[in-house]
Amino acid sequence: MSEFVEIFEVGPRDGLQNEAREIPTAEKIALVDCLSRAGFQRIEVGSFVSPKWVPQMADSDAVLKDIKRVDGVSYAALAPNMRGYEGAVAAKVDEIAIFASASEGFSKSNINATISESIERFKPILKAARHIDMPVRGYVSCVTDCPFDGPTPPQKVAEVAAELFALGCYEVSLGDTIGKGTPDSIAKMLLAVLNEVPPHRLSGHYHDTGGRALDNIDVSLSMGLRVFDGAVGGLGGCPYAPGAEGNVATEAVNAHLVALGYDTGLDSDVLAEAATMARAMRTG
Ligand code: HMG
Ligand code: MG
Repeated sequence: MSEFVEIFEVGPRDGLQNEAREIPTAEKIALVDCLSRAGFQRIEVGSFVSPKWVPQMADSDAVLKDIKRVDGVSYAALAPNMRGYEGAVAAKVDEIAIFASASEGFSKSNINATISESIERFKPILKAARHIDMPVRGYVSCVTDCPFDGPTPPQKVAEVAAELFALGCYEVSLGDTIGKGTPDSIAKMLLAVLNEVPPHRLSGHYHDTGGRALDNIDVSLSMGLRVFDGAVGGLGGCPYAPGAEGNVATEAVNAHLVALGYDTGLDSDVLAEAATMARAMRTG
């Protein structure tokens, strides 16, 4: 039997958060409903962040309210602080994601906090989540390069990943936010992180700005990672990271993994349908 590699779908959140057009809630719901039929175990649906900072995610509660939830799919949302956590819980998410950075420049730009201030903000979220058995995933951004601070030392990534893991994140997703990572820089970063967090608790979240995301997935596979984030249609990027373009396209990651002989559990026809839908959302 083929070995299973999971793709964590982040398109409705990371794919859409940066779109200039105000996307109607109904279109977002239709995209999530299509993705729910594709066979994902986890789908990131939205963010409970300040609508002044990311207007596109302001309707995440409405999206979560009206999607058709499929048994066995965990619907996730980002929360930067307790207010976001409470909003996400009220919207009945199945899991939360907190998001830190390995570089100070991006941390300040994205969440207006230093790395250590952000960790302090996350502590009450993890404590509250533990009380209600809510799984929390942790992101570390800028794992190889930062648009403000330049190359990120691998040891700093390891430090932040270890902190999120020790606080109770069940998985740490390693974000090449601006897609500048190469197999060499990703391998160096993973070597440091793997001293702190085991490979089955990591995910590779590689943006494809530099066209190296699939190569970066290959090197990560060779180092034991078995979860990768993708955004259907290859949309996305972070509004607070200049130069962050598309996420790696889920359908490309799926085709690549299948060609390598892995089982992803995904239906490529439904994925193609979702990718068409996502790309049309970009152009309006
Ligand atoms: P701030 O301005 O420092 O904090 O923002 P604040 O407490 O003064 O709040 C500002 C306003 O937002 C206030 O409203 C708050 O009430 C409100 P006002 O009084 O001015 O009317 N507010 C909220 N509203 C709704 N939900 C909330 C919330 N919190 C405060 N949860 C803050 C700090 C963290 C809120 C802000 O910086 C923020 O929302 N940042 C989010 C940025 C973001 O979502 N970035 C994209 C996601 S990260 C990413 O894409 C990277 C990733 O994909 C991995 C990778 O690729 O590397 C995950
Ligand atoms: Mg991202």
